[in-house]
Order: sequence, then C-alpha cells, then structure tokens
Amino acid sequence: MNQRANRVRLPCQDPTLEIEVTDDGSRTLINKATGDSYHSSSGAISETRQVYLRNSGVQERLSSGQATRVLEIGLGTGMGMFLTVDHAIKHGTPLDYVALEYHWLSADVVRELAPESWVDNTAVVADYIRWRSSVPESQLPCGQLPNSESAEPKLTSEFRWHAGEHQVVQIQLVDALRWRHEGESFDAIYFDPFAPDTNAELWQTPMLAVMYKLLNMDGRFVTYCVKREVRDRLKAVGFDVRKIRGPEGGKREVLVATRH
Ligand SMILES: C[S@@+](CC[C@H](N)C(=O)[O-])C[C@H]1O[C@@H](n2cnc3c(N)ncnc32)[C@H](O)[C@@H]1O
Repeated sequence: MNQRANRVRLPCQDPTLEIEVTDDGSRTLINKATGDSYHSSSGAISETRQVYLRNSGVQERLSSGQATRVLEIGLGTGMGMFLTVDHAIKHGTPLDYVALEYHWLSADVVRELAPESWVDNTAVVADYIRWRSSVPESQLPCGQLPNSESAEPKLTSEFRWHAGEHQVVQIQLVDALRWRHEGESFDAIYFDPFAPDTNAELWQTPMLAVMYKLLNMDGRFVTYCVKREVRDRLKAVGFDVRKIRGPEGGKREVLVATRH
C-alpha cells in the first residue's frame, strides 16, 4: 500500500525538489516534476544501511580493516557516501570512494536534510559541507550536463574530498553513461540511479556490462531494483544474481549481483 500521501513534505531551497521525512525519521528528496524519490519512503537510512553498506559487503570489509574501493552511481544526497566514510573512519580503514553524479546538490540543500543525524562522526559531515560550499558554482559543468560535449573540457568535472587521513572521495560530475573508466576497478558498486522508468539507459545491458567489468573478483553490485528484465540482463553479462530480503518495513526484496 502506498502511504506516501501521509508523509510529511517540506519545502526545499532548490525549488525543483521537495524534502520528505521517511518512515525511519531520516529525510530524503523528491523531484517535484517527475515524482522520483532519492530513497525509499519507508526509510532512507534503513535502505542505505542495508541495501548498500551491508549487502555490498563494504561494511564487513571496512570493519575488518580491508582497504576498499567503492563506486556509486548517483551520489544524490550523499547519504551512501557519508555512511560509508563514517564507517571507514571509525575503523581506520583506507577507503577510495568514487561517486558519479550529474546534478551535484549544493551544500545548502544537503544541510536541509540534517545529514549530521546519519553518522556517528558529525565532524565529517561538517567538513563536507564546508568543502562543498567552497566549490564555486562557476566551476561546475552541471548546467550543461548531461548531453553537452563541448562544455566539459573547459570546466572541472572531478572533485576530491579528503574525508579522513586514509579516506578519499572522488566526485565525478559526469553522465554515468559517458564516464571514462579506463584502469578503474572496484570491490563494490552501489548502483543507485532513479528507477528504470526514469533512468532507462542506465539499466540496459551495455551499462550493466561495464559495471561487471569494473568489479574485482567476488565484488558485488547492489541495488534496490529486482525487476525481472534487470536481473536477466545482469545474468546475461555474467553476474551471479540473488534477490534477498529488503530492509524492515521497506521493499520485500532487493538485489545482490556478484562477479565470480
Ligand atoms: C536515487 S538518487 C541517488 C541517491 C543517493 N545514492 C543517495 O544516497 O542520496 C539518483 C541520483 O542519480 C543521479 N543520476 C541519474 N542519472 C544519472 C546519470 N546518467 N549520470 C549521473 N548521475 C545520474 C541523479 O541526479 C540522482 O542524484
């Protein structure tokens, strides 16, 4: 049953977005024009912890001190990034976090989501907000993305945030379909674009085949979407695909695809 109508919605600094208070009390964003939500309304933080941190094996790797490289498709609010960085710092584990995004949210919008309530180490969030605020909007290619070839070389599209002594976040402002990924490899992929109805191309075989190639052996691709056609495409490109139980009160099943 869709209970979304009963959830609290708040205005956002960005007039194209609205804030939603999800069922676990954490906030997410809704695109007003398309209705796309950045997280599950049943609980943004519950979803992020389970579907991305736990199911990917990243939480376990970081807890046991294994240096880890994560690729996130769709940085969005930064919730997945903050939780991962927070965990890495807590355990003193090296982390390389690469996030692709073509609509980088401003520090003001992120601040409105109360991100300090997502993490143990609130100084990390404060540092990100400071760092994001220091990036001049004039440097960003966002206005021209996703389809402008000509604007990109003149503008900076890669930003590095040194979140901790051994934890680096690289934000690539790029259409994920056009990202130059030569030489890259990851232990886990948080695949979190909007749903296939909105972000259709990202869920097609060519993109999923790239995701497969980018993973190290036994690396995991995790996502919230368990649609039959997506699972079939993932299997076709070589993944071992499993549906597993979703977060408490949220989606019944979510997806883990492993490269063996
Ligand atoms: C569901 S939200 C991601 C939520 C995010 N993981 C978080 O923790 O807040 C999807 C994000 O993917 C981004 N996106 C959609 N299509 C994209 C594309 N082709 N290239 C880069 N980013 C894209 C959107 O701008 C949006 O921020």
